[in-house]
Amino acid sequence: MTAPRAFHPLARLLHWTMAVLVLTMLFIGVGMVSTVSSKHQWLLAIHKPLGITILLLVVLRIMVRLRFQPPALPADMPALMKFAAHASHWLLYALMLAMPLIGWAMLSAGGYPVMLSSSWRLPAILPASPVLFAWLREAHQYLAYLFFLTILGHMGAALYHALIRRDDVYPSMTTGFPAPVEIAEKPLEHIEPPAPEVLPPSDNAG
Ligand code: HEM
Repeated sequence: MTAPRAFHPLARLLHWTMAVLVLTMLFIGVGMVSTVSSKHQWLLAIHKPLGITILLLVVLRIMVRLRFQPPALPADMPALMKFAAHASHWLLYALMLAMPLIGWAMLSAGGYPVMLSSSWRLPAILPASPVLFAWLREAHQYLAYLFFLTILGHMGAALYHALIRRDDVYPSMTTGFPAPVEIAEKPLEHIEPPAPEVLPPSDNAG
């Protein structure tokens, strides 16, 4: 089966929705731990349900990724660059899955209720343990930094494809249409004039 030229529309919708949600979560997380004001509780009340939404969306996204074949990377891309692209994509999937699970597990180990709304409480997924809580809290923090760095690298790579290589990679995740082919135009003065037509000798010459 030949690979499609663009990602499936559902894969593109999930990609851009989750990009906004994950970036929002990273900033909410940093904002939340840098304040002891009443905003802390307010931000945490957004952070938990949004994180669980990301967990559900990433499970759906992995199913969509396995069901619909993604486009192949350009054949002329160096092997090392292709390896870096694939490795960073799997790292992003792993982080989208791990961050919400670790957040949920951390609160469970700390003995805190994981409330998605004032009445909707999720079950604990780990037994209460101060050691586990401390360990998971560090993991959630350091993986958040790794997430930030991986997203920065991912955005840099997307810009490199869109602005420098100008290949099909960027449109395959945006409009779905291949990049416009650039036709190198010849300056008019370099176009050879047509050869003068040689007319056959006329019969009534002379
Ligand atoms: C994609 C999902 C998630 C992302 C990107 C994310 C990101 C972050 C970030 C950046 C921080 C600040 C880390 C620091 O500098 O110490 C944080 C803290 C925190 N997150 Fe998440 N998070 C996610 C999911 C969750 C979920 C699902 C929960 C709970 C159900 C959760 C609970 C917490 C808690 C309680 C803190 C505060 C930890 C502390 O006080 O040190 N997170 N998160």
